[in-house]
Amino acid sequence: MASTQTPSLILLLLLLLTTLSILTTPSSSSTETFVFGGCSQQKYTPGSAYENSVNSMLTSLVNSAMFSSYNNFTIQGQQTLYGLFQCRGDLSTADCGRCVAHAVSQLGTLCLDSCGGVLQLDGCFVKYDNISFLGVEDKTVVVKKCGPLIGYDSDASTRRDAVLGYLGSSDGSYKPYRVGGSGDVTGVAQCVGDLSASECQDCLSDAIGRLKTDCGAAKWGDMFLAKCYARYSEGGDHSHGGKDNDDDNDEEIEKTLAILIGMIAGIALLVIFLSSIRRLCDGKGKGGK
Ligand SMILES: *[C@@H]1O[C@H](CO)[C@@H](O)[C@H](O)[C@H]1NC(C)=O
Ligand SMILES: *[C@@H]1O[C@H](CO)[C@@H](O)[C@H](O)[C@H]1NC(C)=O
Repeated sequence: MASTQTPSLILLLLLLLTTLSILTTPSSSSTETFVFGGCSQQKYTPGSAYENSVNSMLTSLVNSAMFSSYNNFTIQGQQTLYGLFQCRGDLSTADCGRCVAHAVSQLGTLCLDSCGGVLQLDGCFVKYDNISFLGVEDKTVVVKKCGPLIGYDSDASTRRDAVLGYLGSSDGSYKPYRVGGSGDVTGVAQCVGDLSASECQDCLSDAIGRLKTDCGAAKWGDMFLAKCYARYSEGGDHSHGGKDNDDDNDEEIEKTLAILIGMIAGIALLVIFLSSIRRLCDGKGKGGK
């Protein structure tokens, strides 16, 4: 008896714990939502000096993000390695640190042994490479996403134009982070901190211009260029590359998984219970003869 009861109890406990941990694990906050990522084609030899440089780069980025919202690093070696991070302007240093740590750990798996890597999460941007990109303005479109059309609504498009106009306006000062709203339309824009004030302005003007032309009458739009981005959304319908959708999906998957595990646990317990009863009966039956 004891030999069948003990494993079943352990199994029950394990399954309960798994179910509980899945149910209670908070889904990652929206600042850590994935926007885009990429790795350079070239790979370095594991165990090489280059790997050490990459590791110290990533460590420097994570450490520095606990104190500032932007920083750049150059690591001299046989091959020079360049890297930087940029947090969204509204993040606290604690949130910035968390976001960059999350991005770096994702880069570690995403770009394993790659000479360079780049990752944009909702709240932060991280990039490292052995090709210098520090202080270089780059307006390459990396991600362009437009939401569903709102149909003809002149008020909504007026508000959107006002928000985009505000985000794109310049008084000559350095404004790497911009946020604006009109009615239920909100917008945000961010430059990577290695751009000068005029480069940042130029990059954002480009991103905003593209949003206007490419996302026309869409409910929301995302325009990520290599060194800056602009995004807007209407009515809090921040689908923003699946900001809400993805979270919902994650939750759905978690719930489904929890239900599945619960069911498997139930069936497993039933089988164990039935088999132990059978053994008990068999034993009694034999004893009776
Ligand atoms: C970057 O590293 C790769 C792999 O080690 C190498 O092939 C490439 O030439 C390097 N590029 C520069 C600019 O150093
Ligand atoms: C990189 O960091 C150094 C020191 O923190 C700073 O002086 C320099 O201006 C930065 N360069 C860029 C391109 O941001």
